[in-house]
Amino acid sequence: MQNFEYCTPTRLLFGRGVVDQLPEVMKPLGKRVLLTYGGGSIKRTGLYDKVKQLLHDFVIYELSGIEPNPKYTQSVVPGVQMCKEHHIDVILAVGGGSVLDCSKAIAAGACYDGETWDLITYKVQAQKALPIVDIMTMAATGSEYDSGGVITRTESNDKLGYIDPLLFPVCSLLDPELTFTIPLKHTLAGVADAMNHVLEQFFCEDHTILNDAMCIGALRTLMTHVQRVINNPNDYDARAEIFFTCTLACNNIFSLGNSPSRWPLHAMEHTLSAYYDITHGEGLAIITPRWMKHILNEKTLERFVTYGTQLFGIDASLPAQQIAEEAIQRTHDFFCQIGIPMTLTQVGIDDSRLAEMAAHTQRVSHLEKAWAPLTEQDIEAIYRASL
Ligand code: NZQ
Ligand code: ZN
Repeated sequence: MQNFEYCTPTRLLFGRGVVDQLPEVMKPLGKRVLLTYGGGSIKRTGLYDKVKQLLHDFVIYELSGIEPNPKYTQSVVPGVQMCKEHHIDVILAVGGGSVLDCSKAIAAGACYDGETWDLITYKVQAQKALPIVDIMTMAATGSEYDSGGVITRTESNDKLGYIDPLLFPVCSLLDPELTFTIPLKHTLAGVADAMNHVLEQFFCEDHTILNDAMCIGALRTLMTHVQRVINNPNDYDARAEIFFTCTLACNNIFSLGNSPSRWPLHAMEHTLSAYYDITHGEGLAIITPRWMKHILNEKTLERFVTYGTQLFGIDASLPAQQIAEEAIQRTHDFFCQIGIPMTLTQVGIDDSRLAEMAAHTQRVSHLEKAWAPLTEQDIEAIYRASL
């Protein structure tokens, strides 16, 4: 078992009605609030009005229209300007992972005199960030319980993870009822995203029985409850279990003591959504079984056997190779069965830029150093197999 350090300073308030605690959460953090949100879902659901009413004592400025795959120039830069101009004390992010990720970059940029991009690219280490509170309305990224954000710069096709302990939210308010209105497409993409967060941690060199059990439990929870939510979007318990699993899945809890993973699926997907602005969870679902097939070899076999027997209940007495292949097929079938588009063609990606994207992924993420090393040619082959 490897050494590790773990500290998550984020306070979680989880369950029905927790949003009512917002004023009490916000009061110690200051009066001047930047309220950030996306393309309007919070207005349609009534959450916007509720937040405004709860915070009637506060001075509120608003940054709206934060896009999925949040953009540096369109959203981060104006947000930083607003914080500086209006002397903002605290950022309140209300929406999905994109809104929160964007808010994290803004929080750091607001306390830095230079270009925020210097921080996102780690050219300069942030010394300070504004406090962030969030009301998360999507079950997916786990941004509500991690210290990272992912920001896209369209001009250079960059989609970069920006991680710094300063970016942990002070408090995340998580009411599963707020996730009832997520459109089916994003519900499924969110589940696929969280499943991938687990898989990225499961597939590594050194691992523990405890971590394997947590990973398999998380995957089983997501795969079981998504079926219930497809049948009934207002199934509170199913939504709640999915939400909490998503919250935990990106926080590294499931891999404490494991050897690190380079998160190759995320590296490959971030390039796809940087170039084509596709939905993150869909991109991940599409490449996952192709990546699995590509890396299956003598060294990786044991992980697939554990995965196949423990998650899918495949007969452990079968030959290992057969178990592994069956597990990969079942992974593919699961995504198909719940209704996620499972080819790049279906999400509007053709073969014209695969080599360029593979080179980009490798330049940014160095997957030759991954547990199952990938060359640029391997990455291109995985993209091609996903078409
Ligand atoms: O923009 P609005 O109108 O709010 O609509 C959003 C958006 O269209 C809608 N939505 C969210 N909650 C809703 C809702 N619609 C109705 N009811 C609700 N309750 O859903 C759409 C997608 O929202 P978005 O925030 O983009 O989704 P998600 O939470 O999946 O975030 C995706 C982004 O997070 C990054 C992804 O790469 C992508 O950029 N990631 C962030 C991570 C992190 N911070 O740790 C890790 C992940 O691996 C991921 O890379
Ligand atoms: Zn993800």
